[in-house]
Amino acid sequence: MQRKVTKAIFPVAGLGTRFLPATKSIPKEIMTLVDRPLIQYAIDEAREAGITEFIFVTSRGKGALEDYFDHAPQLEFELLKKGKTELLEILKNTNMDSGAIAYIRQHKALGLGHAVWCARRLIGNEPFAVILPDDVISAKESCLKQMVQAYNEVGGSMVAAMEVPRDKTSSYGILEVGQQHENLLAINGMVEKPPQGDAPSNLAVIGRYILTPSIFAHIEKQKIGVGREIQLTDAIANEIALGQAVNGFQFEGKRFDCGTKAGFLQATISFALARNDLRDELADYLQELVSVSNAAQ
Ligand code: G1P
Repeated sequence: MQRKVTKAIFPVAGLGTRFLPATKSIPKEIMTLVDRPLIQYAIDEAREAGITEFIFVTSRGKGALEDYFDHAPQLEFELLKKGKTELLEILKNTNMDSGAIAYIRQHKALGLGHAVWCARRLIGNEPFAVILPDDVISAKESCLKQMVQAYNEVGGSMVAAMEVPRDKTSSYGILEVGQQHENLLAINGMVEKPPQGDAPSNLAVIGRYILTPSIFAHIEKQKIGVGREIQLTDAIANEIALGQAVNGFQFEGKRFDCGTKAGFLQATISFALARNDLRDELADYLQELVSVSNAAQ
């Protein structure tokens, strides 16, 4: 029986430069897909997986994230007065129990490995999850929940894995894969953003991890890696080299890369089309756009 995974780290310290000028004054994680901020999708996924403690690794200028998860007494009072119970219900998802959420600052932008390491004292001696909010995964059962279920059976560490086109491998952590058993892959090695042509496979790490606290010692010893950052991938690779069991988990669901504009737009359209209140109007509009562009060709 594995120890239960109840804590998750959300690295949210990035500057979000790809979305400037929007991210000049709002954190990237507050940008909305339809009407929910990116971070809400990550939190909902974690909750569905049984996470009860949420650790945000933040940086300067991320105050809006703290406000987002705070109670808003005046707003709630106004909605109550106007009888807007549906909106009050929606707001409930943004509320956190006192003590369930913690914010830690990453004082220097030293990379994902370093961001995770910043939360070491709050994690203590337990397995924990890491969720990168840029990777939004739409699935019947949340991706992290699928992983936690698999982890409860096999233990070790686990990373979400997905096939990517060969010409995109240099944008990801790439897995060197051993034996496969259903959607679990034994991982023999990992390399962060390998140069074009050097990737050991086309299986990429997607931003969901279940790690054991032994990772912190590896991050501490970690040399600066690709992009002059301390990479989580390198620390996990070192653990594998020393015999730690790490599995890749091929999840069921559709992943959107909301760290890019194209991915963000695709997610927006896809989530809007999944909504009863928006589907028909949007589908008609998209149809109209396609006919106009076909006619112009
Ligand atoms: C991070 C990880 C990378 C992983 C990717 C998934 O990279 O370092 O291993 O494949 O997330 O989205 P980033 O996209 O933050 O550069």
